[in-house]
Order: sequence, then structure tokens, then C-alpha cells
Amino acid sequence: MRSKLFVPGSRPELFDKALRGEADALSFDLEDSVSPQRKVEARAALQDLLSGPAARDSGKTLIVRVNPFGSEHFDADVRAVVRPGLALLNLPKVESPEEVLAAVDAVEAAERANGVTELVGLLLNIESPRGLRRAHELASAHARVAGLQLGLGDLFEPLQIARHEPAALHAVMLQMRLAAGEAGVFAYDAAYARFSDVEGFRAEAALARRLGYIGKSCIHPSQVAYANEVFRPTEAEIAHARRVDEAATEAEARGIGAYTVDGQMVDAPFVQRARAVLATARRLGIG
Ligand code: COA
Ligand code: MG
Repeated sequence: MRSKLFVPGSRPELFDKALRGEADALSFDLEDSVSPQRKVEARAALQDLLSGPAARDSGKTLIVRVNPFGSEHFDADVRAVVRPGLALLNLPKVESPEEVLAAVDAVEAAERANGVTELVGLLLNIESPRGLRRAHELASAHARVAGLQLGLGDLFEPLQIARHEPAALHAVMLQMRLAAGEAGVFAYDAAYARFSDVEGFRAEAALARRLGYIGKSCIHPSQVAYANEVFRPTEAEIAHARRVDEAATEAEARGIGAYTVDGQMVDAPFVQRARAVLATARRLGIG
């Protein structure tokens, strides 16, 4: 899931284009990109889409961002969109493990009601100071949590932190990455609103990649190819990972823990990384 394109639920005319596009994942939105007077209509449009074959047949990772737990829309959103084929439910503005558990209850009830047999995972938005401070607790609240998603608009704007301040960006990205890592879930990078600023998008995506994020949110189709490019392992990385994997297999058989590959010491954590790179490459059909 190198790229995840947001598509407002209130713009069904975009659905087909999104399904035919290059994004690895689509995140249909019922929250901030849908105005209050169009919430009901957007929810019905997504229920329709997810009940038919087009979405499932697209081969994309299907995600819906529902309205926050505790809002008047949450229960109806979950009942409408938890359908066979939905991979992840994206929960915005999460701040407590209790909310995560209550959301799991709602998802389980909807799965039973809608005949869903493949469990729907949760992607939690970390987009408030409290959410960030408690990120590890949130990520480890339930086995359904698959990943954490950074939300910089909601986190920075109210605090008047400049969105593109490098030190601020780096600090929160690393903090959330470590929280996700401790919980064993993935970290996913934020959206980048200035969609005509290609270099800015690529630089931010590259930073996220260096910090171990698996992909970047897109809000415009023009960003998707750049996210796919940045988060694709390079030929050199794949080749190095292959050499590490081969050397590790041999060293394991001989009972050696630390050895040299490409002029560099390798031991268990490096092997873990190399095998993760190879798994990603295989998933993308390039390794
Ligand atoms: N998904 C699929 N297609 C999209 C799209 C999206 N998110 N955003 C734009 N497109 C399509 C347009 O329909 C247009 O298609 P066409 O060339 O066939 O006519 C093409 O891509 C170019 O779009 P453009 O005219 O540049 O964009 P816009 O002015 O219509 O919309 C946004 C700009 C930012 C309002 C729109 O991209 C959008 O709503 N993005 C998602 C916002 C969102 O979900 N935010 C919440 C998460 S932060
Ligand atoms: Mg928001």
C-alpha cells in the first residue's frame, strides 16, 4: 500500500476513475471532505459501491474513513460500509483505547449483520496531541489495529505549527513511527494538500520512507505515481537484501551471528529488514 488515494464519498463521479487508477489503496471518505448536509447521501453512495462487484474486482485495498466515534454518524457509517471486500476502516481523531474497543464492537456487529467473513482491520488516525502521546496504547488496544495514519492538518493547524517546518515534521513522524513499531503495526504518512507542489510531495514521501513508513496518503490522482515510486524498493536495495538473505541462510546453518555483506556488518536486525524488503518486492511483483 505505497499509495492511498482519498476519494470524497460525496463525489461518486470520481469512484470509477479512482478504481481504474494506479493507487494501491483507495480511502473513500465520509469525514472531513464531506459537508454535514451530504453525510447521508455520501454514506448511501459508499454502501452502493461496496455492495457491488466493481470495488472488489478492482484488486485495490479498500478503505473507508468514517466519522469519529461518538459522532452522530459513526454507527450508521459503520453499518453501511463494513461489507465483504472492505480491508480497513479508518477511524479519525482517535484518542483513547476505550474508543478503539468500542469501535471494534461496532465493526463486529456490522460484520455479522452484513455477512462479512474476512475480518476488517482498523487504521487509526493520529491527529491530536493526545492521540500522539497515547499512540502506542491506541495501536496496541486490539489485534484488529493494523496501522497508524498521521494526520498533520488536524494536528498542526490548531496549534499554529507550520505544516512544512522540517523539525516539527520529523519529530512527530518519528514519534508515531516508534509507537507503531512498538505495537507491531504499520505507520502511514499524511496527506499533502499542495497538490501542485510535486517536489514538496516527493521530499516528504522520501522522509517518511527513510523513517520506515510504508506509504503516503494522496488527495489528488497526480500524487499517486510519486508515492508509488518513492515507496517502491530500488533495484540496489533488492539486490543487497538478496545478498543479506543468502548470507544469513548460510550463516544460520553454520551458527554464525555476525558477518559481512557488501562491506558492512550484518546481524539479526539487518536480516529482518532485508527479508521485509524482499517480501515487499515480491508483493509488488518485482522481486
Ligand atoms: N479521486 C479520483 N479522481 C479525482 C480525485 C480523487 N480524489 N481528485 C480529482 N480527481 C479527478 C478529477 O475528477 C479530474 O478528472 P478528469 O480529468 O477526468 O476531469 C482529474 O482528477 C483532475 O482533477 P482536478 O480538476 O485537478 O481536481 P478538482 O479541482 O476536481 O479537485 C480536490 C481537487 C483537492 C478538491 C480533489 O482532488 C479532492 O476532493 N481530493 C480528495 C480530498 C479528500 O478526500 N480529503 C480528505 C482527506 S485529507
Ligand atoms: Mg481531518
